[in-house]
Amino acid sequence: MLVLGLESSCDETGAAIVDDTGRVLADVVQSQVVHAEFGGIVPELASRDHLKNGGPVLHQALAKANVSLADVDGIAVTCRPGLSGALLVGVQLARGLAWACDKRVVGVDHLVGHLLAVFLSYPDLPAADPPKLPFVALLASGGHTALYRVDGFELDRVRELGATRDDAAGEAFDKVAKALGLGYPGGPVIDRLAKEGNPDGIPLARPMSGKHTLEFSFSGLKTSVARWVEEHGRPGDDQTLRDVCATFQRRVVDTLVKKLILAARQERVETVVIAGGVAANRELRERAKTAAEKAGLRLVVPPFRACTDNAAMIAFAGSTRLARGEDDSDTLSVSPKTSLASVTRKGSGRRG
Ligand code: KG4
Ligand code: ZN
Repeated sequence: MLVLGLESSCDETGAAIVDDTGRVLADVVQSQVVHAEFGGIVPELASRDHLKNGGPVLHQALAKANVSLADVDGIAVTCRPGLSGALLVGVQLARGLAWACDKRVVGVDHLVGHLLAVFLSYPDLPAADPPKLPFVALLASGGHTALYRVDGFELDRVRELGATRDDAAGEAFDKVAKALGLGYPGGPVIDRLAKEGNPDGIPLARPMSGKHTLEFSFSGLKTSVARWVEEHGRPGDDQTLRDVCATFQRRVVDTLVKKLILAARQERVETVVIAGGVAANRELRERAKTAAEKAGLRLVVPPFRACTDNAAMIAFAGSTRLARGEDDSDTLSVSPKTSLASVTRKGSGRRG
């Protein structure tokens, strides 16, 4: 079965063709550069860019996969959570295509897409060895940071174990980068600069250190960087800048890895997964690997391109429902603020 996936929840316009085993035939992502000068996403500009890019991105995906819309068995589109105007553009495109081409369409939770990205396989990459269910996943992106237990591909098989009380990890990367004058998005640039910095170079707060909880908090750390900048000014020399980045990143990675392993132990699973844009972070990938090995766990990490927003993960996440013959054509709408915890299995896994 071939699925067309569409993604427009934030600042990436994506279209992808994926089969129901997760094989990616085409995955086109157009990142919006228009936000860089503002140090964060401007919702109105995001919607306008999705409107402009949706058509071309769709055509590129179809051409790359060498298929036409008639060959596609169904459409999966991100319907929550995200920026409302941005989501509406993708959903309206999906509904229009479904109506014009007589296809079924299903709405997909963007976060479920991230959690299932680890099942995607790309023709130009070595064959992936996907995780066995159940697993515990750390999802760390620009809008969300939480731990989930995943028992299956459906919403009622996913349970939130703990989430951030304030900023998402990616948001902290972005805000710290802004305070340091490094532009948007902050994650990739901090990742690069941290490589040559001293991770103990600057006295910064430790996020929720020593607490045996599966919740996160990054605002104290972010404020601690802001205070340091207020006191010392933006780093004048390259090495100090690298040290600030390395120390900040070390603090974030420490807490993410520690809680991932804690959650896996509590849930007694054998496999852990990291997902979302921050899962592209080099230090997080390395440290999670070492910690998982030490704890006797298997770590599965999506390829870099599957970590940040893309439509392939949305297509695959929708494929299960499309394969069952489901169709949201008459009911599909957007739900910008709905959290995954509120629509998944009831009962919190939070302890301590
Ligand atoms: O998953 P994603 O593309 O979009 C959301 O759903 O939010 O994640 C984007 C976030 C941004 O905050 C970006 O700064 C962060 O992921 N990010 C990274 C890296 N690459 C992207 N954070 C740390 N290290 C990276 N290499
Ligand atoms: Zn995302």
